[in-house]
Amino acid sequence: MIRLKGVDFHYGGENGSGDGVDGIDLTIADGECVVLCGRSGCGKTTLTRLINGLIPHFYEGELIGDVMIDDYNVSKGELSETSRRVGSVFQNPKSQFFNIDTSGELVFGCENLGLSHEEIGKRVERTVTDLKLRPLMDRNIFELSGGQKQRIAFARAILKDAPIIILDEATAFVDAENERKMRRAIEQITNGKTVIVIAHKLSSIKNADKILLLDHGRIAAEGTHEALTASCGKYRKLWAISEETQSWTLKEAGR
Ligand SMILES: Nc1ncnc2c1ncn2[C@@H]1O[C@H](COP(=O)(O)OP(=O)(O)O)[C@@H](O)[C@H]1O
Ligand SMILES: [Mg+2]
Repeated sequence: MIRLKGVDFHYGGENGSGDGVDGIDLTIADGECVVLCGRSGCGKTTLTRLINGLIPHFYEGELIGDVMIDDYNVSKGELSETSRRVGSVFQNPKSQFFNIDTSGELVFGCENLGLSHEEIGKRVERTVTDLKLRPLMDRNIFELSGGQKQRIAFARAILKDAPIIILDEATAFVDAENERKMRRAIEQITNGKTVIVIAHKLSSIKNADKILLLDHGRIAAEGTHEALTASCGKYRKLWAISEETQSWTLKEAGR
């Protein structure tokens, strides 16, 4: 179970904006699929950084309260320990690669787990097949398109087989055909895991166990799609904008 109680974080240091999240009370049960939504800048990515330990390890600022995964304290633990528990695919895939070639990057994702060579080979092979990544193997990562990079980042996160997966607009740059494939793969591979998703296309996340609507760094509303649609004007508005953007995208693509 993931648990945050009264958590505040504000970006500090030289480039600190003073923005962040406030008074976050949240529990996510094992195996739940939770969606974070809200306007740009409302704190979605910041909340995921608290759960994957990048805050406070990579981002300077003031943190109040603890982020717990069962009885493990993410905020105080080592990043490598957290990384066994949480796999993440970020919004901006450019900033998350450690290797130049795609195959090396996938192997790298498993190396810190202490697996045998043989086991790593098997896992990589299985994931490459499942995600249909064969044509992208042994390529220079930095010459791939944004969507292809995101597929590699997704594969690397999956390979770790961590019980918690964070997808921060993980399909934002992927084309429609690959997005469908990736979504199917996400459904299969994340089955039984705890999944935290940030997505702009709200229609894709209707079936989540729980949707959290963030507003100015706070959780403004929480519930299923049906409950929020019935009770929350802000959520209905966000949904309407998402639908509008999507129909616009489809029209543009059809020209
Ligand atoms: N690395 C950072 N340094 C300083 N401020 C940041 C940083 N990342 C995000 N912020 C600020 O924190 C707030 C929340 O941002 P973020 O969590 O990225 O929002 P979202 O993912 O919902 O768009 C915003 O005001 C943003 O400008
Ligand atoms: Mg974000």
